[in-house]
This record gives sequence, C-alpha cells and structure tokens, in this order.
Amino acid sequence: MEGKLVVAMVGLPARGKSTMARKLEKAFTMDGVKVKIFNNGKLRRKLTGPETSLPDFFSPSNPQGMALRERFAMMNLEMARGFLQRKGQVAIIDAANVTCRRREAIERFFPETPVLFLECVNSDGEVLEAILHRKASMEEFAHLSLDVALESFRKRIEHYEAAYEPLCNERNQLIVDSFDGKVIQEKLTDSIPHYERLRDVVVTRYVEHLYLVRHGQSWFNLEDRIGGDPELTPEGWNQAEILAEHFSKERIPLIFTSSLKRAIQTAAPIARRQPNCTIIPLKEFDEINSGLCEEMTYEEIKDRYPEVYEARKRDKYGYIYPQGEGYVSMEERVERGLKKVFYLSDPEDSILIVGHRAVNRMILSHFFYRKKEEVPYIYMPQDGYYHIKVTPNLKLFELKRF
Ligand code: F6P
Repeated sequence: MEGKLVVAMVGLPARGKSTMARKLEKAFTMDGVKVKIFNNGKLRRKLTGPETSLPDFFSPSNPQGMALRERFAMMNLEMARGFLQRKGQVAIIDAANVTCRRREAIERFFPETPVLFLECVNSDGEVLEAILHRKASMEEFAHLSLDVALESFRKRIEHYEAAYEPLCNERNQLIVDSFDGKVIQEKLTDSIPHYERLRDVVVTRYVEHLYLVRHGQSWFNLEDRIGGDPELTPEGWNQAEILAEHFSKERIPLIFTSSLKRAIQTAAPIARRQPNCTIIPLKEFDEINSGLCEEMTYEEIKDRYPEVYEARKRDKYGYIYPQGEGYVSMEERVERGLKKVFYLSDPEDSILIVGHRAVNRMILSHFFYRKKEEVPYIYMPQDGYYHIKVTPNLKLFELKRF
C-alpha cells in the first residue's frame, strides 16, 4: 500500500505512549493526512468489565488474560488494516507491544506497509511516581481507593517489565525519551512516509492552552519584600476569586503551582470551580531564592548589601545571590518543571501554572526566545496572565487582563 504507514507504539505503561500518539494524530490531521489511533487498552475497556483492570489479568502466567489481550491486539490490527485499505494513510497502534513476538506479528500482519516501531522510554523515578498517581485517579480505577489503585497499577507494570524485550531486529525503529523530548536511537530500513514530520513532532512539546499566572498579592508584596513564604492578603484572595470566575468556563484538569503558600492559595479557588481538577505543587516552580537577602525589601538590600545591589543591577541574569540563586542558576530546575508539566498532561488539555515573578519570566522565555539579559525584565503583572499556545503549526503568546 503505497504512501501508507503503520506506527506501532512500544513501551512499558506510563511512558507517554498515548500522549505521543495523540500528538502525532494532531499534527498529521493538521497536515490533511488521514490518521487514526487504534488503542488496545480502550478496546479492552470497551469490551470487558472492571476485572480486566486487575493486575492478574496482565500476568504472563495467566493464560486466559494473555489470550484475551492477544485477541484485542489482533482485532485492532484488523481494524487498522481496514482503515489503511480504505482512505486511511497513517494507522497508529497504541499498545505496549513489549515482546519481540508481538512485534514480529505486527510486521507480518502488514507485509506491504512499512511499520515504524516508536518506543517511548523514561526512567526518571520521581516522574514515574507522579504519573502513577495521575493514572491511579483515572476512571478505570474509580471503583478502587487510591492506595489500592496505585498498588494495582504498580503490579501491572511489574508484569509488563517481566515480559519486556528491547527492540532488536525490527526493520524501522525510533526510540524517544519522552520526558526529555530527545531521540535516543533511530534505525530505518524502509522508506517511511511522513518521517521528517513525525521525527519533528515526537520531540516537540505541544500545548493547546497554557495559562501562566502570577500568584495574587501576598503580605510581602505589600511591603515590597522579596522571597519567603507569605500568605495572600485579602486583596490576593480576591484576585484568586476573580481568576477562578475568569477560568470557570474553561475545563482545566491540572493546575501546577510552586510549593509556596501564595501560589497554592491562588490556585485553590480556581480548582474549586472546576469539576475535577488537581493541583500539583512543584518545587521546580518556586520563586528565585534570594539567599542572604530573603525577606528583605530592595531598599534594605541597598543599605545592608550595596555590593549585592550593584552587582545584580549590572548583570541581573547572571548574578547569583549569596547563598541563593540567580536567573542563570534557575534554568535547569525550571526546565525540569516544564518537562514534568508536559509529561503529566495531555496535549489537548488546558493547563494553568501559578508561579512567581522571576520563575514566570523563565517559563515564558522557555517558549519565546528572549535575549538572556532581557529575561529578568519581562513584564509579569499580578492582574494579568500570559496565554501560551504551541501547536504543530502555531506559536502564540498573549498578555491578558482579568
Ligand atoms: O517581589 C516579588 C518577587 O517574586 C520576589 O520574591 C523575587 O525575589 C522577585 O520578585 C524577583 O524579581 P526580580 O528578579 O525583578 O528582583
């Protein structure tokens, strides 16, 4: 079948396969390419009851479970073949496909269509733990308590780990670190239609709507004091309520904040107005640590540490506060925070981040290039927010008032 392609996902559970599949679907759809995802898990959930969510169903020593999974896999392959025989151009098989046997079967099933195995890997323990919590709160586990759901999902992963065999002789392979957004390995034997686009998409972060908000007024803001962990003032709470009203018509499943009170407090009323919204505090989004100068006003710093004040004025990006941080030394953690945001959310989700003046400047400059020396001066008001949109064909940022 000329010009047609099968992309078969590979990877242990919670490695970002479905997110990757949906990103590809979105990009190809925008290009006018007829693409469809065939997800084994979805088919299983549609055709069976909650018993197939139990870990034993996935055990390699459960012959009935194995047979049923094999049947769903074959059904999906048949549907994918039907799709390609009609007008379909790219069929994405979204399943773990962790054994050589299964992958050989897929290649055999499509003798005339190139099959690209796209493996998602990620071995960052902290991030895997966070995604497990997300998954355990999903619909499939709604009938279980969080602890039982977590345990159940961990066991399921163990079963997959026991069966896992790395890619070996498959003709076409692309291995991606889905947390870092990096290609780790690629091997192409056949000519793969749409490969350039596909390779670009798998390492690009897309977000439909990202709202970058600064926390509401804190007691330290009133006095122009920096850092610390103050709470919101009544005015700050009021701003949070206005934000909550402002975003109430939009579905926001995840709010990421720093680990500091003023950010979490700003997020709370917004989350309350949403049907099912989780606040995820990340230390990576904490405000710049001003070390010796924490909790001081800029005037006090000028009086007590004039050398600090002057040096920072000369090179605000590169200057690192004694015993603290500078913009330059925040780069790495902010980057890691954003990777977590992308890993934990779906590309079609609207996401909200509640951060702080300096950290929000770093986040914004991640999406839109600014000269480093300009970053510490990006305008970051408390009565406005940035709306960021990055799709396969569009990058946009807009300052909005509320
Ligand atoms: O004043 C609020 C604040 O978020 C402080 O906590 C922080 O030190 C400062 O802004 C960062 O802004 P700048 O880098 O312009 O000093």
